[in-house]
Amino acid sequence: MFYRGSFAFILALSRIGGCANSSIDDYDVLQYVDPLVGTANGGNVFAGATIPYGMAKAVADTDSENNQGGFAYDGSSITGFSSMHDSGTGGQPSLGNFPLFPYTTCKDDEVDGCAYPKKQRKTSYVSESVKSSPGYFGLNMSSGIQVDMTAAHHTSLFRFQFPTDMPSSPLILLDLSDLSDTRQDNGTISVDVTTGRMTGHAKFLPSFGSGSYVPYFCADFQGGDIRDNGIFVDARASTDVKDLTISRSINGYPLPGGAFVRFHSSSDNTIQARVGLSFISSEQACESAEAEIPDFDFNKTYTAAVDLWTEKLAPIRVSRNGTNSSTLTNFYSGIYRTMINPQDYTGENPLWDSSEPYFDSFYCLWDSFRSQFPFLTIFDPASLSRILRSLIDTQRHLGWLPDCRMSLCKGYTQGGSNADVVLADAFVKGISDGIDWEAGYAAVQRDAEEEPFDWSNEGRGGLMSWKALNYIPVEDFDYIGFGTLTRSISRTLEYSYNDFTIAQMARGLNKTSDAEKYENTAQYWEHLFRVDQTSFLNGTDTGFKGFFQPKYLNGTWGNQDPLTCSNIDTSGKSCSLQNNAAETFESSIWEYQFFVPHDMATLINLLGGPSEFVRRLDYLHDQGITYIGNEPAFLTVFQYHYAGRPGKSTARAHFYVPRYFNPTPTGLPGNDDSGAMGSFLAMTMMGLFPNPGQNVYLIIAPFFESVRITSPLTGETATVQTVNFDPNYQNIYIQSATLDGEPYTKSYVGHEFFTKGQELVLVLGRNESTWGTGPDDLPPSLSTNGDSTLNFRRDG
Ligand SMILES: *[C@@H]1O[C@H](CO)[C@@H](O)[C@H](O)[C@H]1NC(C)=O
Ligand SMILES: *[C@@H]1O[C@H](CO)[C@@H](O)[C@H](O)[C@H]1NC(C)=O
Ligand SMILES: *[C@@H]1O[C@H](CO)[C@@H](O)[C@H](O)[C@H]1NC(C)=O
Ligand SMILES: *[C@@H]1O[C@H](CO)[C@@H](O)[C@H](O)[C@H]1NC(C)=O
Ligand SMILES: *[C@@H]1O[C@H](CO)[C@@H](O)[C@H](O)[C@H]1NC(C)=O
Ligand SMILES: *[C@@H]1O[C@H](CO)[C@@H](O)[C@H](O)[C@H]1NC(C)=O
Ligand SMILES: *[C@@H]1O[C@H](CO)[C@@H](O)[C@H](O)[C@H]1NC(C)=O
Ligand SMILES: *[C@@H]1O[C@H](CO)[C@@H](O)[C@H](O)[C@H]1NC(C)=O
Ligand SMILES: *[C@@H]1O[C@H](CO)[C@@H](O)[C@H](O)[C@H]1NC(C)=O
Repeated sequence: MFYRGSFAFILALSRIGGCANSSIDDYDVLQYVDPLVGTANGGNVFAGATIPYGMAKAVADTDSENNQGGFAYDGSSITGFSSMHDSGTGGQPSLGNFPLFPYTTCKDDEVDGCAYPKKQRKTSYVSESVKSSPGYFGLNMSSGIQVDMTAAHHTSLFRFQFPTDMPSSPLILLDLSDLSDTRQDNGTISVDVTTGRMTGHAKFLPSFGSGSYVPYFCADFQGGDIRDNGIFVDARASTDVKDLTISRSINGYPLPGGAFVRFHSSSDNTIQARVGLSFISSEQACESAEAEIPDFDFNKTYTAAVDLWTEKLAPIRVSRNGTNSSTLTNFYSGIYRTMINPQDYTGENPLWDSSEPYFDSFYCLWDSFRSQFPFLTIFDPASLSRILRSLIDTQRHLGWLPDCRMSLCKGYTQGGSNADVVLADAFVKGISDGIDWEAGYAAVQRDAEEEPFDWSNEGRGGLMSWKALNYIPVEDFDYIGFGTLTRSISRTLEYSYNDFTIAQMARGLNKTSDAEKYENTAQYWEHLFRVDQTSFLNGTDTGFKGFFQPKYLNGTWGNQDPLTCSNIDTSGKSCSLQNNAAETFESSIWEYQFFVPHDMATLINLLGGPSEFVRRLDYLHDQGITYIGNEPAFLTVFQYHYAGRPGKSTARAHFYVPRYFNPTPTGLPGNDDSGAMGSFLAMTMMGLFPNPGQNVYLIIAPFFESVRITSPLTGETATVQTVNFDPNYQNIYIQSATLDGEPYTKSYVGHEFFTKGQELVLVLGRNESTWGTGPDDLPPSLSTNGDSTLNFRRDG
């Protein structure tokens, strides 16, 4: 497409023969994927069985405070085994619909002798028994029941193995419940007297959005002879009743209700439950289950999942020379997490009729635009283009691109309209497969031009002020659309950057006057820069002058301490979507001062030039003002590149990895956010980090001797090969480089590196060098000219 191969720095070089990456053998990559990474301590990663982007996600649910992904590996109790989950999210847990729960036998052999409500039935598990791998999750309950599970696209398969050393008449219940107990009126369930098949549905609320959603299920059982079945309400059950419609009731907690099947004792004491899922109907859930897992073959279902994961992880291999399995597991587990969410609900969208794909669980784009979607652009472009088509189709039918979306509902907007970045990033990297880019452009342009009535859910707020004053004022006056009137600084910064990415698309689509317009509005961030603003830490002047500040409608400066909402702020100020929250979202002015991804050159000038800029960026990291556990920190690790100090970016990367990212359940510094952290880790360790919306990957020394990436689009293989690689990471500074055999001094490459299969050789050493430090070596900025100018500037 427009950008591919048109950079001036891509000289017409013939590839040098030979293959420097011969040390990379192929190997079974799934041995290095541990789905339990980040499943305790707030990582909130989904630990269970799923296929890539699958709708069925089977896992044990716990009553942990950190049960957003269902299972938390922290010793909390099991409340059930459910089939729908998100991964890595904060806030309220989402989904967790339709938990099953098994008993070996009921007390006194009476159905009322089993405990039905979640709060009473929950039970502990044997910690050492927890096993998880791609497509598989299993554990032993303290009751002696061994439970393991696997999944197909819309169907979970649970295998319950009951103890054989006690009398048994197993009972399995299905609860019309979810993780956050949001069930509304009127949940229904029916159990078939002869087969035990359970069908039904219920309405629930999304975890970080507006509206409601209705999932349907179809549960079948195999392996035991049915003794009887029926329904339960609260703590009482009956075999005489087969159908139930249940109210939420009034006590702020949905009245427990569901159905059960009881079995005769059987010789191998194994019963499997197959749960089909749909957002359309129970019939469709049954059809999917019958088609996807027709014969209840656990091994076959699991093997199919393994094959899918193996295929998804095929494009990338790193050299294992000198590298231990902990480093490899850190890396590949991060990659694995980028393909759990979003979820492919194509054919399951009840909201509109369309032949386009439908994906859900964008949770949230504010997190995932930074590295997750750029990662998929390289490694899974076919899925990425289907995801983009889904975003564009969502705008076509609902009017607006989402900034966050889950469970068929609109999610809350955290700042800008970051779908603009997601679309533009793929556009500048030449992703085209079936995408209507004119429709994509119309969708992002609407974000910039029209204010939605509820901009808490989509689009942008304050556009009247934005257009008249060219910034978002603190205490804005807005009677057109409504949302929380906070975050004026971070919204100004995000809208500016979003407009830059729209300009990128406009350039590529030959919409020259639009491009000029949005390149201009992309500079509005400068209006909130107050040159004489100081910052004090513990009463001592930090010595830096010039920070963003809030500004009122009348042009008068407001005031926010630049450290408010930073990682070291102890003021207790609200920093999220509360009505009384700060003018920066989930982060401080100190951190947001670096958020001009598209015009670092202008920012560096404003902050006093490259060395002052580096001093400031060091201060941000060294004083712990930023925290790598939240996404705004990501790009700050690499922004030294823009000041001609790429070596310091490598050093920062090694400061954070593995100190803050290690392959253990507690090994993530914050919510994984649907793979946002996973992709940050993967791209940092492979040594090429994106600045999204631009055809730019910032180069640092990889954490491996070499990296090999085969583009699924072109079949070409790109390699990053190091010379003097040191497994103890003493030699982390690039001394010199070649690209396809020619000397290369720029500190970045473009996407054609991957699609053309180029070869980057990096000679490493112990000290920072002059490599990548010259004015012509810097990554591009909107405002700069000369060799580091963005392609589009030259094109016009
Ligand atoms: C593996 O790394 C060592 C240095 O750590 C190097 O001497 C050796 O050549 C490398 N082996 C291969 C096959 O590249
Ligand atoms: C889990 O249960 C199975 C079946 O009873 C048993 O063979 C296995 O040893 C148990 N595992 C652990 C770690 O307790
Ligand atoms: C729930 O079902 C009851 C009983 O059939 C009915 O009266 C009521 O209108 C239903 N409520 C909703 C919200 O559908
Ligand atoms: C599972 O299936 C695979 C592939 O069909 C086969 O190689 C393996 O032996 C099977 N394992 C079991 C336990 O049946
Ligand atoms: C934009 O214009 C250039 C030069 O005229 C042309 O080569 C290119 O195909 C056009 N692109 C689109 C998307 O129309
Ligand atoms: C600031 O004060 C806090 C609380 O007294 C202390 O923990 C922190 O180390 C101080 N930081 C600096 C840079 O002085
Ligand atoms: C501008 O508005 C702010 C907030 O209402 C007020 O505090 C300030 O005095 C006003 N400035 C001028 C010059 O009127
Ligand atoms: C693996 O290697 C990394 C980097 O050299 C090191 O920090 C870590 O301690 C090693 N881990 C193990 C388990 O040896
Ligand atoms: C690296 O720099 C240190 C001083 O910072 C110096 O002592 C050392 O000799 C340098 N090493 C090389 C290989 O240049």
